[in-house]
Amino acid sequence: MMFKRFWERLKTNYLRGSPLHRVGRTKTLVSAVVCLSFLSFIAFSYHFLNSSPVHRIANPPEPAITCRMNNLQKSMFTPKDHTSKERLHIGARVLVFVESQYSKAAKQITSSLQYARIDYKLENAGHNLPTLTHADKGRFAVIIFESLEAYVNMDNWNRQLLDKYCQDYKVGMIIFVHSADEYGIEKEKVPGLPLILRYNVAVKDYRLNAFTDIWRITKPGETVLDNIEEDDWVVFEYNHSTYEPLSYAKLAPPPYLNSRYIPDNSTVVCALLDRGTLDGIQRIFFGNDLSFWVHQMIFIDGISYLSHGKLSFPLERYILVDVDDIFVGITGTRMTADDVEALAKSQERLQKEVSNFHFNLGFSGWFYQHGTSLENAGDQKILEYRNKFWWFGHMWRHEQGHKFDQAKLETSMIKNYQFAKEHNIPVMHQYAVAPHHSGVYPVHEPLYQAWKNVWDIRVTSTEEYPRLYPSWKRRGFIHKGVMVLPRQTCGLFTKTLYIDTYPGGRKKLDDSIQGGELFKTFLYNPINIYMTHMGNYANDRLALYTFESVIKFVKCWTNLQLKQVTPLEMGIKYFEMYPEDKEPVWQDPCVYKRHMQIWSANKSCDRLPKFLVVGPQKTGTTALYKFLQIHPAILANYNSPDTFEEVQFFNGNNYHKGIDWYMEFFPVPGNATSDFLFEKSANYFDGELVPYRVHSLLPKAKIICILIDPAKRAYSWYQHMKARGDQIAGNYTFHEIITAPDSAPRKVRELRNRSLIPGIYVQHLQKWLEFFPSRQIFIIDGGRLKSNPVAVMHNVQRFLHIEPHYDYNDYLRFDPKKGFFCQVSSANKSECLGRGKGRHYPPMNETSVEFLEQFYRKNNVALSKLLSKHKYRIPDWLEKELSD
Ligand SMILES: *[C@@H]1O[C@H](CO)[C@@H](O)[C@H](O)[C@H]1NC(C)=O
Ligand SMILES: *[C@@H]1O[C@H](CO)[C@@H](O)[C@H](O)[C@H]1NC(C)=O
Ligand SMILES: *[C@@H]1O[C@H](CO)[C@@H](O)[C@H](O)[C@H]1NC(C)=O
Ligand SMILES: *[C@@H]1O[C@H](CO)[C@@H](O)[C@H](O)[C@H]1NC(C)=O
Ligand SMILES: *[C@@H]1O[C@H](CO)[C@@H](O)[C@H](O)[C@H]1NC(C)=O
Ligand SMILES: *[C@@H]1O[C@H](CO)[C@@H](O)[C@H](O)[C@H]1NC(C)=O
Ligand SMILES: *[C@@H]1O[C@H](CO)[C@@H](O)[C@H](O)[C@H]1NC(C)=O
Ligand SMILES: *[C@@H]1O[C@H](CO)[C@@H](O)[C@H](O)[C@H]1NC(C)=O
Ligand SMILES: [Zn+2]
Repeated sequence: MMFKRFWERLKTNYLRGSPLHRVGRTKTLVSAVVCLSFLSFIAFSYHFLNSSPVHRIANPPEPAITCRMNNLQKSMFTPKDHTSKERLHIGARVLVFVESQYSKAAKQITSSLQYARIDYKLENAGHNLPTLTHADKGRFAVIIFESLEAYVNMDNWNRQLLDKYCQDYKVGMIIFVHSADEYGIEKEKVPGLPLILRYNVAVKDYRLNAFTDIWRITKPGETVLDNIEEDDWVVFEYNHSTYEPLSYAKLAPPPYLNSRYIPDNSTVVCALLDRGTLDGIQRIFFGNDLSFWVHQMIFIDGISYLSHGKLSFPLERYILVDVDDIFVGITGTRMTADDVEALAKSQERLQKEVSNFHFNLGFSGWFYQHGTSLENAGDQKILEYRNKFWWFGHMWRHEQGHKFDQAKLETSMIKNYQFAKEHNIPVMHQYAVAPHHSGVYPVHEPLYQAWKNVWDIRVTSTEEYPRLYPSWKRRGFIHKGVMVLPRQTCGLFTKTLYIDTYPGGRKKLDDSIQGGELFKTFLYNPINIYMTHMGNYANDRLALYTFESVIKFVKCWTNLQLKQVTPLEMGIKYFEMYPEDKEPVWQDPCVYKRHMQIWSANKSCDRLPKFLVVGPQKTGTTALYKFLQIHPAILANYNSPDTFEEVQFFNGNNYHKGIDWYMEFFPVPGNATSDFLFEKSANYFDGELVPYRVHSLLPKAKIICILIDPAKRAYSWYQHMKARGDQIAGNYTFHEIITAPDSAPRKVRELRNRSLIPGIYVQHLQKWLEFFPSRQIFIIDGGRLKSNPVAVMHNVQRFLHIEPHYDYNDYLRFDPKKGFFCQVSSANKSECLGRGKGRHYPPMNETSVEFLEQFYRKNNVALSKLLSKHKYRIPDWLEKELSD
């Protein structure tokens, strides 16, 4: 097995000293993301159009995986439970020290953690330590080092601090050890530990030490027989009882034999556990990186062990294999009666490995009996065996949902429903799959509605959310009561029908099965829904080969318990496990080509705003909104009847209505290039999730906010609530509200919060700046907007790069009666905002002024620092505030 490409060997041309005593590190090779799927060319095209010519193979490939150990031997090794009371002292996340976050090793670690959905913090090894204990999130459970150098070269003070932390809280370390790049150094002692590293070793016959407490998912007993044709392994030598080998291998001849080579069959140690009896710290050392698949299992089990079970993965794996397109397929490539027989036999075999296993067949009734006579007999055989399998609806004529309205979709679904009824097909599990993922995400609302109406669908699956790659970041969400689960690909494409034409060759598929991508989907995903197509159960039955092989392989090497439950139960389990996934995150469908292809042609991303006025409330946002509307190239949203004209999409329940609902608020622009759609919702500014959501849907949008003295804002907001008849505001003075203690009634505390919290500008602005670069955020000094709106509007236009440029002198005029600027009407009259705006009320009580000054002081100082850092002008009021 070749782990690394030849070119990577070339990097060893650098001649450098001992890795443990090197100062800087020059190896910052930016290599491709490690686990990047090889499936990057999945055909999107309709399978009718590009199937290869028919050529049947008499003998489908047989699964060739055999375990070294028999079942009895295997049953001796039961998975270890790592939970101990120590886990109560730590949090559920890890700290990763890297030398460069772009190095290959660092990327492997982070993508593994992402895949396992383990929360982590990345830290540069040369820098100061982060806070090791975190009030909200608990202490780090495991510390990971990209390289041993990062650990031993840490400055003394930090090293002592870190070691002490690990000793005090029983926190373990995982340390990756890499070979010296210079071939001269063969051995080296690790400073401070009775441990010797032997560099640049090639190994073979890799096997695990069965007698250690680490194995949970990993099942020892098998051996990786291939020569591991690399000589960049580090193996460990030691002379202390604190060490316990985790894996062994034999020395192998190096890939490039030289005359000095003397054959040597010694056994060496490739991964090592330090039990902590020497210095109180448990450590796991890896003599190579995570490219080697067995290391990924050891890594996961190691995290579980070192975290005392806090970061343990479940052992159950729920598996569902969907066979899409039953009946659908070009004549000559469809299933015959023999294929159906083979499917049933395979299912019986799989039932021994996966409890309750059933192939889940997706049917499109219109195609029934549309093949050759052999294939039509196959169709009949499937129906004869219908009760052996599970079934789900897949659209009568394999229609792509996004192309049709609700009535058409329902008609199609009803036909398929009736087909199922006529043929007694047992469709039971409130599960459906959309052809080509169409309409599921990006959401086509009529599809969800039609599913509900015709089939009462509660679960579906797609590989398109949030997008196809990287596959380990696929997620689920719930929309309109339908649980959308992530789907995995298994390396079989709609058009790959033969093993001898498998893209990249049979070895590619076998590597994926034997520790590669497909194996890893079993390893990392507690819930696995696989997509396959009928064509791969016909012909040389590649799908049967694939699943039987991978499941055998999983059984040989892991303690995973493979099970099948109904899709509905799977959905419930998924969202119990990952409640944070329930809420979808909408994205702009036009950013990804794949999403565009399954999005209705009737919809247009031109109906998404180019900029947002986000508030906060009571800073002059309504005036700004009116002024913007004067501009002929700026188009505002249509008013919402429920929310005082504002759309309020990103901050509340409206978000669940989806982007179709949102886009209905915008006109179709006459010219999408020159027209600027926008909306103003003043409570976006301080909404917890808003910056993240806005960024997902409108990554290029510009953001405008207005800042006034937060004390004035709080008072104005209170007066606004009072004027609107809010009972609490009516019953309590401003002072009582802002100083309400935590013992006050909940409604009073709520009002206090809503009056005070939006004014903590620095907190909210920071959040926006996490998602948007400062050049996309415009901050208006609210005082200037009031005193000189013409100048402000000039700057706003420049910020937006909007044409034509308008001179607002012609459109705004100071109204001495109102005390602020108003629009000039066509009849040359002042048109001021309604009664509610620019209200007059008594000045704030001195005590309140002092209280608020105190309350906001620290935040205002921080705000001014933040603004300076991002090169914003400091608003006049803030300047004044800070100089007082
Ligand atoms: C191991 O350490 C012990 C005690 O320090 C010593 O007596 C012994 O010689 C060492 N063995 C080897 C093989 O280095
Ligand atoms: C190494 O092992 C092979 C196969 O087991 C054996 O033929 C050979 O003699 C061994 N060599 C040494 C040096 O022990
Ligand atoms: C798109 O618009 C056309 C014309 O209004 C309509 O006939 C068709 O049903 C619409 N398609 C969808 C998917 O709504
Ligand atoms: C839209 O506006 C752009 C920029 O002003 C201009 O170049 C383009 O010709 C306009 N397109 C149409 C169809 O008017
Ligand atoms: C406000 O005060 C009035 C009069 O005392 C009382 O009837 C009402 O229940 C109070 N409202 C609230 C929400 O406390
Ligand atoms: C008010 O805000 C504080 C700080 O964010 C929060 O802890 C508290 O739960 C909030 N109270 C209410 C009633 O919303
Ligand atoms: C519009 O009104 C202003 C002030 O009322 C006046 O100075 C100006 O001449 C008027 N303009 C026109 C075109 O009537
Ligand atoms: C301001 O309000 C507080 C609390 O209601 C009150 O005790 C104080 O007398 C008021 N001060 C002035 C100057 O009105
Ligand atoms: Zn299909």
